[in-house]
Amino acid sequence: MSKAIEIEPKRRRVFAIISHPDAGKTTLTENMLLAAGAIHQAGKVAARGEARRTQSDWMKIEQERGISVSSSVMTFEHKDLIFNLLDTPGHEDFSEDTYRTLTAADCAVMVLDVAKGIEPQTLKLFEVCRLRDIPIITFVNKLDREGRDTFEIIAEIQDKLALDVVPMQWPAASGRRFKGVADLRTGAFLHFVKPEDGGEHVMTQVDGNSIQAMFNNDDLFDEFMEEQELAKEYPDFNEQSFREGHMTPVYFGSALRKFGVLELINALAELCPEPQAEAAKKAGQSVMIKPTSKEVAGFVFKVQANMDLNHRDRVAFLRMCSGEFKRGMKLKTAEGKTVSVHNPILFFAQDRELAENAYAGDVIGIPNHGALRVGDSLSESGKIIFAGIPNFAPEILRRAQLKDPLKAKHLRKALESLAEEGVTQLFKPNFGSDMIVGAVGSLQIDVMRERIKTEYGLEVTFEAPPYQTARWIAADDEALIKAFVDKNMMTTGTDVDGAPVFLAKSSWDVGYAQEKNPELRFLTTKERA
Ligand code: G4P
Repeated sequence: MSKAIEIEPKRRRVFAIISHPDAGKTTLTENMLLAAGAIHQAGKVAARGEARRTQSDWMKIEQERGISVSSSVMTFEHKDLIFNLLDTPGHEDFSEDTYRTLTAADCAVMVLDVAKGIEPQTLKLFEVCRLRDIPIITFVNKLDREGRDTFEIIAEIQDKLALDVVPMQWPAASGRRFKGVADLRTGAFLHFVKPEDGGEHVMTQVDGNSIQAMFNNDDLFDEFMEEQELAKEYPDFNEQSFREGHMTPVYFGSALRKFGVLELINALAELCPEPQAEAAKKAGQSVMIKPTSKEVAGFVFKVQANMDLNHRDRVAFLRMCSGEFKRGMKLKTAEGKTVSVHNPILFFAQDRELAENAYAGDVIGIPNHGALRVGDSLSESGKIIFAGIPNFAPEILRRAQLKDPLKAKHLRKALESLAEEGVTQLFKPNFGSDMIVGAVGSLQIDVMRERIKTEYGLEVTFEAPPYQTARWIAADDEALIKAFVDKNMMTTGTDVDGAPVFLAKSSWDVGYAQEKNPELRFLTTKERA
């Protein structure tokens, strides 16, 4: 076995950042890249975003509403480790997208605003993390602003998220009195130097004994020492409990002031698990695919279409799970489609590079013309299927209506393409020619309308159909499904993969159908393959 296949996966850290809008995710991302030397001045991430926006102006919605809707990956290196940061949209309407992105992450950083604590969106995104029990590192941000008491913040995380919380650092006050943070394990103190006291936000790591000299306020020093004493009551950090998603270590800082950011990267280096074995099916058998398994395999967790309108390109983001990938390799989907990967892209902060090799824990972009879709497993044999990228039953169904009915074919193509990308879902009722779009939140519908207009030149309106909810129909015996569908032609249809769905007027209808058909299962999630 090649040595690289043993060593390389251990150097990878794949993580995502989740936060309520405005908690500081973008600022943190930017300053992480800066701290790691991946970019050289703050503002580059935004500039890239701007450049991207001019290319695909569906992101107008993103600008108008002040939210971020596009996920992407950014790679940076630090201390001989390769970090892949998967960006997740902050808005709750995109939690499905977030979920899929998190299937590819080995750890999440949860950013909280020190003045606000757990906000509604933090909670929602946390619930998405909990579905997979993904390990979470908490970063309490904006310590340079007046914030809440540290004990109170910790208690709130404990109560609202039902997690064991372990402060790894302890802050000395916040806002104007903010002095810095102590590392509770080593006793070292990271001193925050205010702009007015020297301009630059210099950080100096000092020995525990000389901390007092940093405080020109004895009351604050006493308070700080007393708090640290009390903090000893918190449980010790337990790696297993963290890895199982039951315990979160907490770090403090100010993304804007670049304070505590490097410490957070170091925490990720230490705590974020290296790529682990992934559950999969191979030729019908349940198997665990190890990063060192010889066969190259991975799964697509995100597809971005039309990143460049002039080329109608599509990039599938593949999370590598095993093997040593080499550029030009042929990989197969479980459905038997063969993809020759000649131009795999690595997304560095400022550049895109061709990936000559890739290992478990790498994320490569595969340009394609629609052959790959979210949830696809790719492997050399085509026999490996990774578990667990589901579609969620939509909470909103809308009938797509065209201003120009002659363009129906174009519209179907656009809707199919967006459904394959995972933006929204598409259902075709068995009766009639309606195209029913399903979404988890109404903003997804807005994004879709805007994209259909800018990318496909079609004016489309969405109106309420006679159904309110959709459920995938499953049974041990296919004939039972067929019998149900035949009997309920008006309220059944298929999704974009041709899987049967029940289009119900209400959840009461679903309950009723379930009662009448105990041998069927009406599912709120559908796992691909
Ligand atoms: P998001 O991606 O989570 O939505 O948050 P983003 O980074 O855009 O930050 C939201 C606002 O909070 C920004 O201010 C940003 O400058 C500010 N911010 C982020 N981290 C810190 C911090 O550590 N301390 C302080 N004081 N502020 C922080 P804005 O005025 O909305 O935007 P901008 O004009 O500064 O870009």
